[in-house]
Amino acid sequence: MKKLLYVMLATLLAGSAFADSIKERQEIFKQYKPVVGNMGKMVKGEKPYNKDEFAKLASELEALSQKPWQHFPAGSNKGKTEAKPEIWSKPTEWQQAIDNHKAATAKLKQVSANGDLAAIKVQFGATQKTCKACHDSFRQKD
Ligand code: HEC
Repeated sequence: MKKLLYVMLATLLAGSAFADSIKERQEIFKQYKPVVGNMGKMVKGEKPYNKDEFAKLASELEALSQKPWQHFPAGSNKGKTEAKPEIWSKPTEWQQAIDNHKAATAKLKQVSANGDLAAIKVQFGATQKTCKACHDSFRQKD
């Protein structure tokens, strides 16, 4: 009986540890949304392009692109999460998707500083592709 209780407690603790990681990474991804959304509006001309504002957003995105990955402990695809088990069964591909994303956001930040909207558009598109590529392989669709 005691043993069973320990097992149950251990399971519970493991579950809550994952719940924290899951929440943290989802919070970070939620911050991506307004940043990418505002950049998208300027790129599409729904909002006047402002060099400084865009550069600031690109800087924020580059900073965000460093953050989610430490919150993916092995096996944390259980619970309220859209993370696929492939994150841990294909670690090389996962790391490649992260690296591609980081490289794209770093370049976007660099290009944004020049204020060349045509070049920015190209690099913004390339950056968004790295989101989609990773989601296609590693995020569950509902
Ligand atoms: C290397 C992989 C990867 C990249 C790159 C990536 N994502 Fe994600 N994203 C994920 C995974 C995995 C989840 C699911 C997280 C979970 O539910 O635990 C997710 C979830 C999200 C969510 C949902 C968060 C929520 O409310 O639960 C949003 C929004 C999101 N990503 C936006 C983006 C945007 C925008 C980009 C690009 C600028 C991006 N992501 C790049 C892997 C990635």
